[in-house]
Amino acid sequence: MKKTIKDYDLNGKKVIIRCDLNVPIDNGIILDDTRIRSSIKTIRYAINNGASVILLSHLGRVKNVDDKKNNSLYPVSIALSNILKKEVLFSPETRGKELSKMVSELKAGDILLIENTRFEDIIGNKESKCDKRLAKYWASLGDIYINDAYGTCHRNHASVTGIPLYIPSGIGFLVEREINKINGVLDSNTHPFVTILGGKKIDDKIKLIQSLVNISDKLIIGGAMSFTFLKVLGYNIGKSTISEDNFSFCKRLLNEYGEKIILPVDFVCEDGTKEIDEFDDNDIGYDIGPKTVRLFDRVLKDARRVILNGPMGMFEDKKYSDGTRKVFNILGKYKIKTVIGGGDSASAVNNLGFEDMFYHVSTGGGATMKYLEDRKLIGIEVIEDAKK
Ligand code: ADP
Ligand code: 3PG
Ligand code: MG
Repeated sequence: MKKTIKDYDLNGKKVIIRCDLNVPIDNGIILDDTRIRSSIKTIRYAINNGASVILLSHLGRVKNVDDKKNNSLYPVSIALSNILKKEVLFSPETRGKELSKMVSELKAGDILLIENTRFEDIIGNKESKCDKRLAKYWASLGDIYINDAYGTCHRNHASVTGIPLYIPSGIGFLVEREINKINGVLDSNTHPFVTILGGKKIDDKIKLIQSLVNISDKLIIGGAMSFTFLKVLGYNIGKSTISEDNFSFCKRLLNEYGEKIILPVDFVCEDGTKEIDEFDDNDIGYDIGPKTVRLFDRVLKDARRVILNGPMGMFEDKKYSDGTRKVFNILGKYKIKTVIGGGDSASAVNNLGFEDMFYHVSTGGGATMKYLEDRKLIGIEVIEDAKK
């Protein structure tokens, strides 16, 4: 058990809260504010308990000076201030005299958002390489460090794993909730437990597939990922996306767990639905077809718990969103306790109108994958243990 924000007397303290405010922004417009809204509970708790709050977050990936233009957290400070109905100060500096001055002037209830921590990556990758001096400097700005950046908890970065080496630390409400919810599905003894995998990043998901197949009663595979398995089984998958590097992994998985693995039997291609044994050399499957949906329905009918990672098709295009939508519908229809993980899967939930339908939709992509693989996250491991 880790210390949480509730284990500290925050009154009169400067509390550094590391959030994951890495939201999609286009030309200064925030396209999805889920992560901002998910950070509010901890921020509000801190100010309601007499703290002044210093917020840290990254945004995007910053490799050079040009990247700074599109990755400023300034629009996020405006969004936060609109949601909280209170001014949120913004420091364009990630360190330096101006920032120190702003911090020294903070009063109880004030909130200051510091510019993108990854601006420190431009010279020497200081944030991403967990530079000790940078971490120590940020730690010096506050009295207590709270990690509520669930989506970033798998990163060994200065603002995540560095700062808590120097000042008292705890986790925030979002991190606590995410872990409790995921454990709520993983540790329950109800069966059948079904894992649904989709999306396209098979290379990144090998370890995840391996650890989930062990504990699942059935493994449903949809999305582009399924083609590598189907190819290994000898089907002509036309020009659909595959990952040749993973043929041997897929072969081994099918040999060892063949009984558990359910693969699509038809797909939606550009010129209509095709059964998997009807593919021409040029066909590309962009979504699972209606027969596959019925097959998945039969498997899910009795399921008690589901983890879903990765959409069933290229849902961003309306023509290919049916498979993902219908699988979400099935999970709702049978009221299955479901955790959805994966950045694109969470967008699919929002874009296709399934908010609030599931037991849990994680705000983490890589972090949730890592947690499902290892049952631990480095950003949480470094936080102080609670007294037993
Ligand atoms: P997540 O972020 O949920 O872990 P991934 O990043 O692995 O998921 O994959 C998501 C992407 O996979 C989506 O952008 C979607 O368009 C794409 N995708 C899913 N199925 C297909 C398919 N059959 N063909 C092409 N792209 C696909
Ligand atoms: C995410 O969006 O998955 C997190 O914010 C982490 O971002 P990163 O993959 O750039 O470290
Ligand atoms: Mg993704």
